[in-house]
Amino acid sequence: MNNKVIVSPSLLSGDFAQLGAECKRIEEGGAEWIHCDVMDGVFVPNITFGLKAIKDMRKCTSCKLDVHLMIVHPEKYVEQFADNGADIITFHIEATDNVRSTIQLIKNKGKLVGISIKPDTPVDVLAPYIDYIDMVLVMSVQPGFGAQKFLPFALQKVKQVRDMRSDILIQVDGGINADIAQQLIDNGANVIVAGTSVFKAPDMAVAIQQLRGNGTK
Ligand code: DX5
Ligand code: ZN
Repeated sequence: MNNKVIVSPSLLSGDFAQLGAECKRIEEGGAEWIHCDVMDGVFVPNITFGLKAIKDMRKCTSCKLDVHLMIVHPEKYVEQFADNGADIITFHIEATDNVRSTIQLIKNKGKLVGISIKPDTPVDVLAPYIDYIDMVLVMSVQPGFGAQKFLPFALQKVKQVRDMRSDILIQVDGGINADIAQQLIDNGANVIVAGTSVFKAPDMAVAIQQLRGNGTK
């Protein structure tokens, strides 16, 4: 596992009337991924964007589209998100009874597979699946909204996931700034999602770089 930290700015904090331009801004800011929060108003009490938005954003950037599905029954949609240009597809373990088949559907499309756990979901639930996926997303806020306060117990959960598997991508999402990012990296995280701290920063490129930590562990 290399020590590289991937930064995936969350579009949720961007201007939805300019999604294409926001994708370009993130790419110019030096991020590797773009975090696309898909919400259905059922799994979470908010609604954002869906399949066609991903298809149209695909045309606007060479960044990898990191699609975070906060939707019920993700198994019904993962193949279409893959066809529309998603590179990483992460679904919530709490959102489906068909975890194994959802993993397989994403793999069959040649995309990276992520499983996300909400703050109250213990890391142990990942045990049956952790060897078959590419990434775990540890939520550090209740999913549904940006600009929430980081939940510090996510630090311990990151460490637990790292102890379960040394070579898996560990993404953390919610309430993260540069200081918190360093603590997460020290605990084993290597994919950092941030919306507010990137989009509200005076210089997006500096904010993105600062989320990579100081390069030491
Ligand atoms: C929340 C989303 C997060 C959120 C992060 O449900 O999954 O990606 O947009 O935004 P900040 O960094 O503002 O907490
Ligand atoms: Zn997210």
